[in-house]
Amino acid sequence: MEPLILDGRKLKEKLMADLKQKITENLSKFNRPPGLATVLVGNDKASQVYVNMKNKTCDAVGIRSFKKIFPENISIEKLYKHIESLNSDPTVDGILVQMPLPKHLRQYESKVMEMIASDKDVDGFHPNSIGLNTFGDETYGSCTPKGMIRLLEENNIPIDGQEVVIVNRTNVIGKPIVMMFLNRSATVTVCHSHTRDLDFHLKRADIIAVGVGKINFITKDRIKEGVVLLDAGINRTDDGILVGDVDYDSVFSKCSAITPVPGGVGPMTIAMLMENTFLSYMRREKK
Ligand code: GUN
Repeated sequence: MEPLILDGRKLKEKLMADLKQKITENLSKFNRPPGLATVLVGNDKASQVYVNMKNKTCDAVGIRSFKKIFPENISIEKLYKHIESLNSDPTVDGILVQMPLPKHLRQYESKVMEMIASDKDVDGFHPNSIGLNTFGDETYGSCTPKGMIRLLEENNIPIDGQEVVIVNRTNVIGKPIVMMFLNRSATVTVCHSHTRDLDFHLKRADIIAVGVGKINFITKDRIKEGVVLLDAGINRTDDGILVGDVDYDSVFSKCSAITPVPGGVGPMTIAMLMENTFLSYMRREKK
């Protein structure tokens, strides 16, 4: 049987249509649209593409976007100053500093995340947001994992009691998605490059969430019949084609559901960022 395709593009379209309507309804009540500030440092091509997509979606749903691009050699003090000005701007509900920062600023990344006002942390990277996520409040939950969970829920895929195996231990995906699965009563195992017997874990998983940056990392012989595959990998083939970590063609007849790359997890990250910005706006206006 063919697997269910977890279509992130289609779901994003539906969620953004609903969000646009909610934003229109609240516009007259609060006399302003939600606002999202994006900050891009340097000229990394992939980061430029991601930030542009985020700003484009803002325009489409009625979120005001504030864009700032700094040159690669900006000082950390200048970046801090800009974040402070966004923190105190009442028309800004969400602040997003695109990661990674250029090499000379990478040591300050966690300080930058801590500096963003926690009630504007729509990326979910601030220690407060991480703590709230652990307690079960996912309002400021990290966007990629939130989008992966949402794809399961909107497609009525059960999570409660399922064996979930995560192959990623980053602050952006692996760590926050552990809490989101636990919040939904799954049994969670986190694997990484030091895991002794990865195949043992992969073979017994009901749901696999993977993001390792390796083409064809998950193949048919590594998975159980009927597994659900969430692929957060972003890789380019030698021909420049965008692919994930899952060998899509080989697993197709063995899994029960799968996210395509592109068109699976990626669009959902942006959809969740828009929803987080709206949630932040509603919280801030109701204070
Ligand atoms: N770099 C890769 N993913 C993300 C994300 O979700 N947010 C930010 N700010 N940077 C990223």
